[in-house]
Amino acid sequence: MCGIIGYIGKKNAFPILLSGLKKLEYRGYDSFGFFILGKNNDFLLKKTGKISEYKNKSQKNIKGNLGIGHTRWATTGAVTDANAHPHFDCQKNIFVVHNGIIENYKKLKEKLISEGHKFSSETDSEVIAHLIEKHFQNNLEEAVRKTLKKLRGTYGIAVISKKDPEKLVAAKLGSPLLLGINHNEFLVASDPSAIVSHTRQVITLDDNEIAVISPNDFFILKEKPIEKIEWKIEEAEKKEFSHFMLKEIFEIPESIEKSIAGRIIPDKGLVKLGGLEEVLDRLKKIEKITLIGCGTAQHAAQVGEYMFEEYIGLPIKTEISSEFRYKKPILDEKTAVLAISQSGETADTLEAIKEAKRKKCLTLGIVNAVGSSIARETDAGVYNRIGPEIGVAATKSFISQLCILVLITVALGRQREMDLVTGKKILNELQKLPELAKKTLEQADKIKELAEKYSEYKNFFFLGRKYNYPIALEGALKLKEIAWKIHAEGMPAGEIKHGQLALIDENFPTVCLCPYDSVYDKMKNAIEEIKARKGLVIAITTEKNQEIKNLADDVIYIPKTLEMLTPILAAIPLHLFAAYLGLELGLDIDKPRNLAKSVTVE
Ligand code: AGP
Ligand code: GLU
Repeated sequence: MCGIIGYIGKKNAFPILLSGLKKLEYRGYDSFGFFILGKNNDFLLKKTGKISEYKNKSQKNIKGNLGIGHTRWATTGAVTDANAHPHFDCQKNIFVVHNGIIENYKKLKEKLISEGHKFSSETDSEVIAHLIEKHFQNNLEEAVRKTLKKLRGTYGIAVISKKDPEKLVAAKLGSPLLLGINHNEFLVASDPSAIVSHTRQVITLDDNEIAVISPNDFFILKEKPIEKIEWKIEEAEKKEFSHFMLKEIFEIPESIEKSIAGRIIPDKGLVKLGGLEEVLDRLKKIEKITLIGCGTAQHAAQVGEYMFEEYIGLPIKTEISSEFRYKKPILDEKTAVLAISQSGETADTLEAIKEAKRKKCLTLGIVNAVGSSIARETDAGVYNRIGPEIGVAATKSFISQLCILVLITVALGRQREMDLVTGKKILNELQKLPELAKKTLEQADKIKELAEKYSEYKNFFFLGRKYNYPIALEGALKLKEIAWKIHAEGMPAGEIKHGQLALIDENFPTVCLCPYDSVYDKMKNAIEEIKARKGLVIAITTEKNQEIKNLADDVIYIPKTLEMLTPILAAIPLHLFAAYLGLELGLDIDKPRNLAKSVTVE
């Protein structure tokens, strides 16, 4: 959650922080703030609302070469100006921006108050500023180092002190932080989008590391390699689209291409995944696989379970990351735990991986954000390579995760019982998907019309079976998230007759996923059951299907493909439906209420 940025160099910090922070707004957007250490006057701003709507008329007067900024996603303390970051100490000498949660803040705060410290916010973060004040002698990094020892929880912080003014100190534990290196200037940020227009040379800080940065130099308490950001700033811009979510849905065909490019050996029916090469021998000996993730990534994991079970021939389980960690799953060195995460920073998933490592499992990742915590924590993995996803809703990343799961299915399947013909067939069909996704997107106008038609309804069911059951869950989640005035529930179609059917009448629409597949007839039965009770049905089915057209109230067609690939195409209209319904209801589909892009708190 939350975006952090810091600048130290020769340029005026404020415009750099302002434009960088706007790029980070998707990480948290209930309030924002800055501190600029000025040549003559300092500038402190703490404000509720969205930074994209902020205009500073006297911007020209804000002068200083050192500053920090923050967009907040409140965890502790209401959304108020006072609770916005940066936070400061009693003397207003030390300024801190913080991403994460300090779990023991209450105890620390009580002790600091008893020692005479005066607090001006309700947040957990403010204790950091007062602890630094308490430990400060003449050197900021030393005071930060002592402070961090007292904290329990997670943090990414950037700190400035007026008493040690040529310095920016940054540190992290569990929350992401990068150091961007340019000629005579340095930036820190919680993700690359904030700094990529200045530099593509970055160092990803590891947990428990402290970076001490001056205008000409920096040091970290460890030697670190400099990496290169592989995507360009244009990829983090909206281009001709009104919203990132729409742009990212329309990027799906290209994302599929990027996810599979160079990874298929078609004539051998084999897959080449560089990130898994080192563990291929260990993978051969694996006896079971557990897939984990949260939200949309967890839905991808569920589709993966169906793929793996059908083609790899091992016992497979899917777990919700936040539950996995607190259960007593039977895990050992013969278990592979595959974590799926777009951001690579989801705390629930990260902690679940750590638990799996403690139990000696082989840990793998499907991650989009290069160098992220999950990418570094897992033993091996596959990157999505689809560039940044800015909209809070996971769209192109979900589709890409499914494509990579197909690749892993073939990679592991061919190590075991999958024959050459099956391998070739799956990969051949997978390569056709960019074209088929494009074709699916051609129905955008039709889907928009449906969104208008159904925008008055307050509740929706989403039904699917087998491969498309998780897609029903995904359709419902996306609708709740993006068109949040509507309630939706996804479920396996076979379950509806065991209870939920009681809700169905002419005011209750159901989206039914019924492509031609091995459960098509069963899905048809579910539609008939709903129609018999006067329910409204929007069906997603395979092109040219007349039978479903006659049964349902509205139909969206997807092109014909292999059964295991149908969820990839079926998810696209559901993402568009949620986006258009959100817009129809006048909502900000990129920044839905109460949410943030990357959930770095447990
Ligand atoms: C998806 O639309 C949601 N915003 C959310 O469920 C998300 O998929 C989840 O928080 C997991 O994020 P991750 O992929 O970055 O781990
Ligand atoms: N825990 C801090 C707060 O509530 C930081 C939250 C964030 O990461 O944005 O202000």
